[in-house]
Amino acid sequence: MHTLSELYEVIHRRRDVRGQFTGEPIEPAVLDRVLDAAHAAPSVGLSQPWDFVLVRDDVTRRSFREHVERQRREFAATLDGERADRFDNIKVEGILESTLSIVVTYDPARGAPAVLGRHSIADAGLYSVCLAIQNLWLSATAEDLGVGWVSFFAESFLSELLAIPDGIRPVAWLCVGPVSHLETVPDLERHGWRSRRPLAAAVHHDRWGGARA
Ligand SMILES: Cc1cc2nc3c(=O)[nH]c(=O)nc-3n(C[C@H](O)[C@H](O)[C@H](O)COP(=O)(O)O)c2cc1C
Repeated sequence: MHTLSELYEVIHRRRDVRGQFTGEPIEPAVLDRVLDAAHAAPSVGLSQPWDFVLVRDDVTRRSFREHVERQRREFAATLDGERADRFDNIKVEGILESTLSIVVTYDPARGAPAVLGRHSIADAGLYSVCLAIQNLWLSATAEDLGVGWVSFFAESFLSELLAIPDGIRPVAWLCVGPVSHLETVPDLERHGWRSRRPLAAAVHHDRWGGARA
């Protein structure tokens, strides 16, 4: 029972981190455990279609940071008035402040052509990669590390930057490392961008929109 409450505590404590990275080192044994947890994720047809590129090189990280900043400016230009002002205050990455970047990729060819379970839903491979990311995120939280998912990038840019082979897709750039603290409320909610939906609004009974009998 004790373990059960700890599991829920970690799930609810997890945050997307941008501003709280300290840049302190990560113990190699801790990093191994976190990657091992990611690699233990379920995957369609046991394809394990993920890879993890650990990026420590400063020049690479700076180059990616500049690219993200350009993408951020492009998105900002699509906003007007109050939305633009709010977005201005929101930090979308902690690439240089975090200790390590982990790029998680998806290889659709792994286990192909007969990936058991991917016959009807091609995206099931991508779902598998996201589950590995979630395992990584939760175990990092349990290890008192922060994780920030950066998706402000063009896949082609990141593929070239990291020499990712053709056909393999970069899914996420994760900023990982020790943090001063984890916020209790998501950044986007704190900045008035968007609020979380209550669970009751997301649960339907017997059909879409159905109320409990
Ligand atoms: C697929 C995905 C992509 C995301 N991309 C970004 C991003 O580019 N920049 C960012 O600051 N946060 C990004 N986030 C974090 C979300 O903004 C965050 O998860 C959400 O606001 C809820 O906050 P919480 O994770 O702290 O609960 C991403 C999250 C997911 C799941």
